[in-house]
Amino acid sequence: MTLQAQNDTLITVFGGSGFLGRHLVRALARRHYRIRVACRRPDLAFHLQPLGRVGQIHAVQANVRHAGSIEAAVRGADAVINLVGILFERGRQRFDAVQNYGAEQVALAAAAHDAQMIQISAIGADEDSSSTYARAKAQGENAVLSAKPDATIFRPSIMFGPEDDFFNKFAAMARILPALPLVGGGLTKFQPVFVGDVAEAIARAVDGQARNGATYELGGPAVRTFKELLEYVLEVTERRRMLIPLPFALAKLQATFLQYLPTPLLTPDQVELLKTDNVVSAAAEADGRTLAGLGIEPTALQSIVPSYLWRFRKTGQFRTGRLA
Ligand SMILES: NC(=O)c1ccc[n+]([C@@H]2O[C@H](COP(=O)([O-])OP(=O)(O)OC[C@H]3O[C@@H](n4cnc5c(N)ncnc54)[C@H](OP(=O)(O)O)[C@@H]3O)[C@@H](O)[C@H]2O)c1
Repeated sequence: MTLQAQNDTLITVFGGSGFLGRHLVRALARRHYRIRVACRRPDLAFHLQPLGRVGQIHAVQANVRHAGSIEAAVRGADAVINLVGILFERGRQRFDAVQNYGAEQVALAAAAHDAQMIQISAIGADEDSSSTYARAKAQGENAVLSAKPDATIFRPSIMFGPEDDFFNKFAAMARILPALPLVGGGLTKFQPVFVGDVAEAIARAVDGQARNGATYELGGPAVRTFKELLEYVLEVTERRRMLIPLPFALAKLQATFLQYLPTPLLTPDQVELLKTDNVVSAAAEADGRTLAGLGIEPTALQSIVPSYLWRFRKTGQFRTGRLA
């Protein structure tokens, strides 16, 4: 595509003000696309402005639970990307309303405006899962493909990056707690993927380099157990903490109370999610529906995570090499 064509191409990004959103908006802005960010609180999306030229990035109000606001945000767009997802339910933000109904409405609007559609789901999306989150993600994928059969779907594993929820959360917990829980013994496998690589994959799909109607699974270069990831967090933050195995049943009991915190540390639904490994499937690998299939070499945890977890060390950026 020529530079002029990219300047004229408008991309609507639902959920563009979130963690993945800011990295995606940066990747799209570098390609000179015009970007319309649609979220419930555009007043909280000013951090996106420096990622592009004056007027290149514009935030608008939209709620994927309200079809009318979606229509307005999609009007005139050449491509629509839906990043909206929630980790826990609150008020009207239910998994089904946001990740199933909302995804369907976005895809219907993209179809009505003849725009390219890209949907962000998650590894583990499964209509038969015991987790409501995973079921809603799978139902959302199906609804998107029914409305827009040529949509491209991306399922990332757990994402890492400066604003992530996983590594920052456990590093913060290690700062105040004497022990960290190994839910289900800590055996669940993950394939953490750098948020910048996921953003690049989506941007390449906008460029037309991904297959229409395909579901890509995005994982990093290494598979690690939950226990290994917590050990890594402790190593980087130079903390010595006990890792205590917590059977799923006991974790679920604890989560029943923890889910009522303003930002829940753990919910019963997340315990259900932890019962299944979160890694790229052999089928996706064989079919090239991966980062490598898009020509992206996955970034290692070790080259990114220490660059933002240092602030959880007792000595901050001044390394001692001693465990606290
Ligand atoms: N983070 C991970 O490790 C991970 C792993 C696998 C898959 N994913 C998926 O990747 C996607 C992006 O994740 P993320 O970590 O970037 O999420 P995030 O930081 O929580 O961002 C969510 C975005 O969605 C918007 N949003 C929430 N509810 C909305 C609604 N009803 N209508 C419109 N916008 C709404 C939020 O802005 P407002 O609150 O202002 O509306 C925000 O911009 C999600 O679909 C998630 O399920 C994430």
